[in-house]
Amino acid sequence: MQLFRASIAHFPKQTTQFDNDIAIFKDGGLLVNDNEIKDIGEFHVIAERYPAATVSDFSGKWILPGLIDSHLHYPQTQSIAHYGEQLLSWLENYTFPTEMQFENSAHATTIANVFLNQLLRNGTTTGFVFTTVHKESCHALFSAASDIDMAIVAGKVCMDRNCPRELRDNAETAQADSAQLIETWHNKGRSRYALTPRFAPTSTEAQLAALGELAEQYSDVFIQTHLSENLDEIAWVKSLFPQADGYLDVYDKYNLVRERSVFGHGIHLTPTEWARLGESGATIAFCPTSNLFLGSGLFDMTAARANNVHVAMATDVGAGTTFNMFKTYGDAYKVSQLRNEPISPLEGFYLMTQGAAVAHALDHEIGNLNPGSTADFIVVEPRFDELTRLRIKEDVEFDDVFFALSILGDDRAIDQTWINGTCRYKKED
Ligand code: GUN
Ligand code: ZN
Repeated sequence: MQLFRASIAHFPKQTTQFDNDIAIFKDGGLLVNDNEIKDIGEFHVIAERYPAATVSDFSGKWILPGLIDSHLHYPQTQSIAHYGEQLLSWLENYTFPTEMQFENSAHATTIANVFLNQLLRNGTTTGFVFTTVHKESCHALFSAASDIDMAIVAGKVCMDRNCPRELRDNAETAQADSAQLIETWHNKGRSRYALTPRFAPTSTEAQLAALGELAEQYSDVFIQTHLSENLDEIAWVKSLFPQADGYLDVYDKYNLVRERSVFGHGIHLTPTEWARLGESGATIAFCPTSNLFLGSGLFDMTAARANNVHVAMATDVGAGTTFNMFKTYGDAYKVSQLRNEPISPLEGFYLMTQGAAVAHALDHEIGNLNPGSTADFIVVEPRFDELTRLRIKEDVEFDDVFFALSILGDDRAIDQTWINGTCRYKKED
């Protein structure tokens, strides 16, 4: 048994909407046995309860749940940060050429490992990940993640039109390959599968129907795609699907809007779409760095709350500009300031931990430090350089620490990342 001593913060409750009910132990103790959290509380209480436990003392640092990134693209690790485009030309000029390289499975494995290293050094312990159209790229990611017992949700991208020929599957192969990947990876160890039509414009109705059949057959798989990110994209969807009653309805027709559906962006939704998302139990992945980078727009968190829509924070690398979830909240805050409705630091923290876990129905395992959850946690050093030592005093409240790090921090604030009870990343001194 290991007992970790540090300041500790997490949201313990299974709330579907944010409230301020965070648990904070300034001098806390986290008891871990094997790969599971066994107890949490004031250090002296836990220490008395488990006198035989080995103590690791991180006093002055914070232990937090491992962070959840609810939407990103591992192939785009190598194409992050290209100048001057909006969504559709960015896809054509940078994204598709990059993804073609993943036909080579050795390349896919190389990038999968770089990608996982980037997650670990930024404190992210679960990602909802798009791979490429090549099923081997999906195997490469699941293999690399399962080597370190990481709880990953991923899927092979499906697209059978409006993209380079080399990146096209078809309705039948998309269904067969996705089914095979589900059988191989879904609920194996900590891997989970997500049906992954890229977005409506790159799938025919036949392909969406084929994936909808799988969604029915395998009712507990995730579904991930993009929705209403960019105005030109929305106009294009309208022309490609003239019968549909809007963008969301394209997915809805094919049984792709339900619990465990995760839609990237949702920037330009109509009131009807907001209401439908709320009643469906689906989740929007809010990707502020990406929305700013591609000039897509400013996410309407107030509408999400008003319609009881689950929201989870996400980077959307490589349209997103960082793997760091704290910085991602920093941009969410700036987006919300432009809308004159600032998202509080505690809500930001919730959206990358317990709020995301509850949205994805994974809060029995991740997103919190409750006894029974898997030991995925991070050790944060708030005072990692001259400026943060000046700004962040030793005894400040958690929300101020988190906020200051979301503006000033980066991977230097992450000291250690633990996955499944094992330390998988340790910052070099
Ligand atoms: N829409 C369809 N594909 C993509 C993608 O790769 N990134 C983003 N941001 N939007 C998309
Ligand atoms: Zn995306």
